[in-house]
Amino acid sequence: MILGIETSCDETSVALLERDGTVRVNHIASQIERHQPFGGVVPEIASREHLAHLFPLVTRALADGGAAWNDVEEIAVTSGPGLIGALLVGVAGAQGLAYGLGIPLIPINHLEGHIFSPYLQREGPALPIPERFLSLVISGGHSSIYDVRHGTVTMLNRTRDDAIGETFDKVAKFVGLPYPGGPQIEKHGREGHGDPKRFPFPVPQFKDESADFSYSGIKAGAIRLAREQSISVNGDPQALADFCATFQDALIAQLLDRLEVIWSRITAHGSRPSELAIAGGVAANGVLRERVVEWGKTHDVTVRLPEKRYCTDNAAMIAFAGLQRENTASDPRRVVARSRIG
Ligand code: KG4
Ligand code: ZN
Repeated sequence: MILGIETSCDETSVALLERDGTVRVNHIASQIERHQPFGGVVPEIASREHLAHLFPLVTRALADGGAAWNDVEEIAVTSGPGLIGALLVGVAGAQGLAYGLGIPLIPINHLEGHIFSPYLQREGPALPIPERFLSLVISGGHSSIYDVRHGTVTMLNRTRDDAIGETFDKVAKFVGLPYPGGPQIEKHGREGHGDPKRFPFPVPQFKDESADFSYSGIKAGAIRLAREQSISVNGDPQALADFCATFQDALIAQLLDRLEVIWSRITAHGSRPSELAIAGGVAANGVLRERVVEWGKTHDVTVRLPEKRYCTDNAAMIAFAGLQRENTASDPRRVVARSRIG
């Protein structure tokens, strides 16, 4: 079995996977309540929480997975990108365990974890990973489209400014919704039957060669609209619901706009990826999932949606990425944490 450890942001997670990708255990200790009073993640609090939770969680994961220490053949740990203090707790903890057990330690790029996560199943072995697929990673820290061929990842675009999840979080905070804002915006839009057409809201269209995302314009527009219409959790609930639906639609529209540009460029050269896999915290959004599936139907592409439990940060996806890279297992002493990985 492989043990996965994830501590890059505000979730301490430990998972135990069988070699075929069957998830035995995927425990997540969320710190959201500790950060909520501050409206976002406080790095120092995150590090201390990881320190308090990591080892108890490892012990629990082994017990709940019916495994003993000598069943663990290797460890995969998120080595970056993320909050450096938070990463260091996971990496140092994993180094100690791997060194003590005399087993290899595999450093995993957090994004690689997200990229393969749609192939994990709720139960049983992972789905086969196609030779080539397009991956859309949309989270609190990243918004990028990748071309993944034979496990090699090429970045096709990135965000020029804010990540999509960050935009959800900042605008939600502005109208008084708690952190994390994405699920809150979705919930208010859905439960209030928000009308996405009530407020006129421009969606910036693709303009230049890069096909990069840019969410700061939508963020500024949403904040302006909220100010003009006095949208807030303490105001008119229908206006809040309509606002949430409008803002969410604009974010998704930009995502699909860039996806379309990149897809037509790739397919213009003959070959085409057989699947589109979406991943990251924002991939939990129900409206977004429906639209991407719709897009897949019109383009005749299989869309892989991750189980909601594997969208936000978790160690199962880190262990699974470790299984994809078995030949690169490292000496635990050589593994380093890096806040940014280029
Ligand atoms: O992948 P993740 O857990 O952490 C990062 O690596 O960033 O993603 C967290 C992000 C947050 O910005 C959160 O607001 C967003 O995912 N998110 C959502 C939803 N659930 C989580 N955004 C929109 N709709 C959701 N249902
Ligand atoms: Zn993440």
